[in-house]
Amino acid sequence: MKTLVAPSVLACDFARLGEEVAAVTRAGADWIHCDVMDGHFVDNISFGSAFVEAVSRNTDRPLDVHLMITNPDRYLDRYLPVAHSVDIHLEADADVPETLRRIRAAGKKAGLAINPHTPVASIDPYLGQFDLLLVMTVEPGFGGQPFMEDMLPKIRAAAEWREKHRLDFRITVDGGINVQTARRCREAGAEVMVAGTSVFRAKDRAAEIAALR
Ligand code: DX5
Ligand code: ZN
Repeated sequence: MKTLVAPSVLACDFARLGEEVAAVTRAGADWIHCDVMDGHFVDNISFGSAFVEAVSRNTDRPLDVHLMITNPDRYLDRYLPVAHSVDIHLEADADVPETLRRIRAAGKKAGLAINPHTPVASIDPYLGQFDLLLVMTVEPGFGGQPFMEDMLPKIRAAAEWREKHRLDFRITVDGGINVQTARRCREAGAEVMVAGTSVFRAKDRAAEIAALR
């Protein structure tokens, strides 16, 4: 599986959203990652579906919508029309299998996201029901935090699990990803690199994306 780079618009200049999304698209982004936060599931409010829809009008790349919200069941339908993939949290107050099923039924990729303190074994009941496993490599809620080194064994365990069960989900890493940490995540078995700060703050975004890949 090839490495994909998904810049997170959480780190862009919201006053120039359209230009920022177009710029990372030109710079070679594979996917665009949108972090939706509700102030309940995480201690921050970012943006909602109108914003994600505005992102979609400025890129031809697939949108990966990361729902850090308590009630994904309730708001899912607002994101499905513009999403390529939707990641819901295993820790959310949701009927996880049913929500994953609804994402797939809409013809989209279903992502299961897990927080740093959620053990990898907790994905076991959902094996076969998701296309992406998003391993949080920081506590969710804010960009610009340092990568948690102790998530590397978890990525390795997830990759071994995938092999053992002959599944083909992709492993996404999210939080503190830069050229150094991306390399280690890739070696551990991750393929999708979500990167906010490292891409949007780079002097040369195309070079940064190429280096991450
Ligand atoms: C954190 C979000 C991340 C965030 C990553 O809760 O899920 O996607 O934007 O930002 P950086 O790359 O700055 O750590
Ligand atoms: Zn995210």
